[in-house]
Amino acid sequence: MLDHPARADNELDSWDRDHFFHPSTHMGQHARGETPNRIITGGEGVYIFDRDGKRSLDAFGGLYCVNVGYGRKKITDAIAEQAARLCYYHAYAGHGSEPSIALARMVIDRAPAGMSRVFFGLSGSDANETNLKLVWYYNNVLGRAQKKKIISRWRGYHGSGVMTGSLTGLAAFHNLFDLPKAPVLHTEAPYYYRRADRSMSEEAFSQDCADRLEQLILAEGPETIAAFIGEPVLGTGGIVPPPAGYWPRIQAVLKKYDILLIADEVVTGFGRLGSMFGSQHYGIEPDLITIAKGLTSAYAPLSGVIVSEGFWRVLEQGSDEFGPIGHGWTYSSHPLCTAAGIANLELVDELDLVANAREVGTYFKAALQDAVGGHRFVGDVRGEGLLAAVELVRDRDDRVFFDAGEKIGPRVAAALLERGVIARAMPLGDIIGFAPPLCLTKEEADIIIDTTREAIQSVASQL
Ligand SMILES: Cc1ncc(COP(=O)(O)O)c(C=O)c1O
Repeated sequence: MLDHPARADNELDSWDRDHFFHPSTHMGQHARGETPNRIITGGEGVYIFDRDGKRSLDAFGGLYCVNVGYGRKKITDAIAEQAARLCYYHAYAGHGSEPSIALARMVIDRAPAGMSRVFFGLSGSDANETNLKLVWYYNNVLGRAQKKKIISRWRGYHGSGVMTGSLTGLAAFHNLFDLPKAPVLHTEAPYYYRRADRSMSEEAFSQDCADRLEQLILAEGPETIAAFIGEPVLGTGGIVPPPAGYWPRIQAVLKKYDILLIADEVVTGFGRLGSMFGSQHYGIEPDLITIAKGLTSAYAPLSGVIVSEGFWRVLEQGSDEFGPIGHGWTYSSHPLCTAAGIANLELVDELDLVANAREVGTYFKAALQDAVGGHRFVGDVRGEGLLAAVELVRDRDDRVFFDAGEKIGPRVAAALLERGVIARAMPLGDIIGFAPPLCLTKEEADIIIDTTREAIQSVASQL
């Protein structure tokens, strides 16, 4: 075990308040020191350590990304060796580096059938920006100048860039930012628990989602709709697995109107659901797949866009007609990151983490349901693989939600943290999210579950 001593000096604390601009943080409260800050100094397996010497079980794997767990020497060695050999070279104009090419091959070997090329970026957001540009380029090459709108879902999360923030179906990511939402449309979230008509079966609700999608397409004109983007399991919007029959019905509508399908697998790719990809898990046949997080388990920033063979052929046609594609980042396929990706995917295989996510995930969901599913404030326990959520409600029989101002979700997450377990209060609704590293054991799962029960009881006793 590494040494993680508590640090007494608070100089770093004041630098943090005065100079460090945190993402997704209440800026005023943080700067004034009204909210606690937490400076993380180390990690091992499923645990992280902070500067106060506290150890916490990270049941959200960072931001659902540290899939192989912390402190994997195989990956840190691979990064160090690559840095010593070749720290960087770009991939423009046909250049490349050995790890980037090898990783592209490894990704295609694992991807759903029919996928053929990988474009590497750095974040899930930039990969989705690439997706949108490619979709527009594709339709321009095919002479379909009008076919440009993108349909996303309410509660979908696809990043926080200018266009990807527009795709994201959560108001907090739009408010005050003047995003160009015009080419983006939002449709129904496949959120069965929150369906308006509670008498609907799952299949009927899935059909309703597909019908609403079709109505939107017809109202806008199918000739104006380029693509549909969706996460196989809604993530940040609430950790919501699709209701039975959802994906086949959605795909049938998209095929009918010649609309491309982008599967955003930033969270679900590389084992999270107990299958290598969510597309394989649900029989989705995407034209484009977004990958990030689990590609390197966040040991280095790397994302990618996987394109199908059919889509690729149109891109080739485009450069034959119009010249080299004018798209790329300096750090596209950065060799340190792709070296990390190779070591990470090898580790996923060596440790059989996809099977572990399936097995421990099945155990986790059932045991979580047993432990908290009957609590008077628990409305729903759901999940797939090692991605799970508990939704808290004021009245479970009549499905009455808590007022947002009561902050029940954040209070339960805080009670978990106090007890040494990190779960995430999802941003919309009182939903406690779990996405632990895929190496989680059943014993570690039990710690998360017992602590969740205690945290819910503790908050409930204050109400
Ligand atoms: C499904 C999905 N897509 C895209 C993103 C954006 O990724 P990033 O934060 O790396 O830009 C996220 C981030 O959580 C995500 O969950």
